[in-house]
Amino acid sequence: MERDIIFAGNWKMNKVIKEALDLVNGLKRELLDIEGCKIVIAPPYTALTCINDVLLDTDIALSAQNMFGEDSGAYTGEISPAMLKDTGCEYAIIGHSERRKYFKENEEIINSKIKLALANELRAIFCIGETLSEREENKTMDIIQTQLLGGLKDISSQDMSNVIVAYEPVWAIGTGMNATPAQAEEVHAFIRGKLTELYGVETAESTTILYGGSVKSENIEELMSEIDIDGALVGGASLTIAHFSEIVKKGLNTKLQRR
Ligand code: PGA
Repeated sequence: MERDIIFAGNWKMNKVIKEALDLVNGLKRELLDIEGCKIVIAPPYTALTCINDVLLDTDIALSAQNMFGEDSGAYTGEISPAMLKDTGCEYAIIGHSERRKYFKENEEIINSKIKLALANELRAIFCIGETLSEREENKTMDIIQTQLLGGLKDISSQDMSNVIVAYEPVWAIGTGMNATPAQAEEVHAFIRGKLTELYGVETAESTTILYGGSVKSENIEELMSEIDIDGALVGGASLTIAHFSEIVKKGLNTKLQRR
């Protein structure tokens, strides 16, 4: 079974509604005829509903950047998975390194969020990655293993069809310093190996593993040439129509040529 190729744009805390609509209308024009991959955009919560209206006649899917780990209740300021479904979201990014760093999300929180997302029929884009000091101390694979196993605790093989793993080295996020294709492939292959141990070859081979961290149109082709890199989670470069569309087109082309 061939796994999904996915290009996801994480807009982070950017774009008021008018700006968000301009961006999504532009992407819609540029990416309307693209076939062979899934395109996902993750705008801020405030723009989800109106963007969903624009996307209704397209295959571009909507994602949240986060969600709260409870179904409902007295959690002032939080957003539940059902609320996200209600806005049209099909995906939720979970465990992004900025959530881990600024909001102290640990493996336990991330694991419960992934389970709750799946229970609410949201696909989880589950992010993992090491910091620069962890890489320098040769702890990359240990960290990846801890985050992967912690986040996927008690997640069944069947549920894995709705989990997308995103490897995002923290030192590459927003820094302009992307992992080299070889560095990224080494970790992607390690992740797929761990998934094989956990779930068997079939599930591991059908799980999409994205790379994220300073992805640009200039480096997407070399990254997508790697066998275990199935797409990208793009931050900064997803904020402009031209950059994100070029990443999708070039990245998809490269991958389809390799298959
Ligand atoms: P970046 O962000 O592309 O701006 O490095 C990636 C991410 O945080 O998902």
